[in-house]
Parts: sequence; C-alpha cells; structure tokens
Amino acid sequence: MKFTAIAAAATLLAAPAFADGHATGDAAEGENVFKKCKSCHMIVDGDNEIQKGGKTGPNLYGILGRVPGSVEGFKYGKDIMKFTENGLMDDGWDEATFVAYVADPRAWLREALGDDKAKSKMTFKLKDEEDAKNLWAYLVSVGPAPES
Ligand code: HEC
Repeated sequence: MKFTAIAAAATLLAAPAFADGHATGDAAEGENVFKKCKSCHMIVDGDNEIQKGGKTGPNLYGILGRVPGSVEGFKYGKDIMKFTENGLMDDGWDEATFVAYVADPRAWLREALGDDKAKSKMTFKLKDEEDAKNLWAYLVSVGPAPES
C-alpha cells in the first residue's frame, strides 16, 4: 500500500507541467537547476517575485511563446534584437529552441540568424539536456497559462 502511494506520487511529480506538449521535463527538478541562472536572471510577474535574481539577463517570466529579445527595457545585444526587428520566430521560444539556446547561446544565434559573426551577450552554457528540459518545464509551470 505504502509503496503504491509513493509510486503514484512520483508519477504525478514526473508529469509534464502542461499535458499539451509545451514541456516534457520535471518542473520540480527544474526549480533546482534555476540556481545556475539566478546570478543573471529573475522570474518576476509584475510585483510578484517568483524568483529573485540578477539583472544581467532579461526576466524569464512568460518565456513560452515570447519572441527572442523582446523584454521591454532590457538592453539586449544587437544580434538577438534581429528577431523582433525582422519578424523572425514569431511563435517565440519553445522547448526545442530553449534547450538548444541554453546549450550554446552564440552557436544557436549564429545558426538561427544564418550569420556566423553573430554574438550573444549570454556567455553561460547549460549543456545538460535533461537539466535544460526540466528547467523549461519549471519556467512554463510558473508562467502564465499557455494559450493553446
Ligand atoms: C552570466 C550571466 C547569465 C547567466 C548565468 C545566464 N544567462 Fe541567460 N542571458 C544572459 C544575458 C546577458 C542575456 C541576453 C542575451 C543577449 O542580449 O544576446 C540572456 C538571455 C537569455 C535568454 C533569452 C531571453 C529572451 O528574452 O529572449 C534565455 C532564454 C536565457 N538567457 C536563459 C538562461 C537560463 C535558463 C540560464 C540558466 C541555465 C541562463 N540564461 C543563465 C545572461 C546570463
């Protein structure tokens, strides 16, 4: 009996944040991974500080579906601004683009823009794909409900 209850709880925890395919990782694990981002990024919804953090990088609240480089008032590098300037990737960040970006922001930017001189202001790399998926699930779980 006890075992069944624990197994059931574990299954619930392992379930994706949203069953509709926006995230496949484990949000609870991802909250831990966010510690690696905290020195530069916060997660803030208006007055609600979900995670305190640095201001070197943009607020990561509502990252799902947000066009790269589009947080008002944040001073991005000029290359990531090309997404909003040129109407690229207007579906915004999703799990696949996020995981690829955090693994190597500069390489991702170069490939996405087809510009081998593009530069990223984010120098940190999160190579572990499972960590990145869990982190994505966490970010989606604390963000606004996705539209579809
Ligand atoms: C040393 C500081 C630093 C760390 C650590 C860092 N970032 Fe960043 N991040 C930045 C900066 C600066 C930018 C803006 C990039 C640009 O302007 O080219 C950025 C941009 C981003 C973006 C694009 C956001 C947007 O608005 O388009 C995402 C997504 C992101 N970071 C995720 C992460 C995650 C997840 C972590 C932790 C695994 C992390 N970052 C760790 C500094 C950092």
